[in-house]
Amino acid sequence: MFLVGLTGGIGSGKSEAARIFAGLGVPVVDTDAIAHELTAPGQPVLQNIIHLFGNEFLNPDGSLDRAALREKVFADERARHQLEAILHPAIFDEVVQRVNQHPQAPYQIIAIPLLFENERYRSLVQRSLLIDCDETLQVSRTTARSDLPASAVKAIMRAQMSRAERIGQADDIITNNRGLPELKKEIEKLHQKYLMIC
Ligand SMILES: Nc1ncnc2c1ncn2[C@@H]1O[C@H](COP(=O)(O)OP(=O)(O)OP(=O)(O)O)[C@@H](O)[C@H]1O
Ligand SMILES: [Mg+2]
Repeated sequence: MFLVGLTGGIGSGKSEAARIFAGLGVPVVDTDAIAHELTAPGQPVLQNIIHLFGNEFLNPDGSLDRAALREKVFADERARHQLEAILHPAIFDEVVQRVNQHPQAPYQIIAIPLLFENERYRSLVQRSLLIDCDETLQVSRTTARSDLPASAVKAIMRAQMSRAERIGQADDIITNNRGLPELKKEIEKLHQKYLMIC
């Protein structure tokens, strides 16, 4: 199975890129979406998180208070490791299950924000694709989409792997500095390439 890991910093355009690949008929497994699904009400992973961190991380409707949890683990390294120990293996198992649902696909995309930081995913994929863009665009696109202030986006960027390091590690790089039609063209080119080499 030929697997391409799709990665990039916050707001670089990973989700848009994943959508375009999906539109070309490529199976896309999105680790962020899986993380969301596994922490929905009723899921054992959510129960484990609440067991560890307490009921104050639940909203009144029983859903996970994601903002509160994000804040907690951003400030507390031990808590972050504990959360990761619950979440990461569950997400990885789900990724493998979903990939195995498309044995006939020529290749598949796995969207993984922390691909280069994570040895398990690095060895799962055959190739890496970095969605890269200017840092000013990362900030402006992320603030336009969410209610995070620019200062918070910059703090996340500082905590993430540097742009230069990512560029040094990627097999393929798409520079997403222009519009969505240009992004689509670049992805169509890569799609042809992947179909040739997979
Ligand atoms: N080439 C582009 N032109 C215009 N807007 C874009 C472009 N690429 C991405 N965007 C927009 O920028 C925002 C961030 O893009 P996207 O959600 O794809 O990034 P991401 O890497 O998935 O972010 P996150 O790390 O938060 O998951 C979105 O609102 C998206 O529609
Ligand atoms: Mg995204």
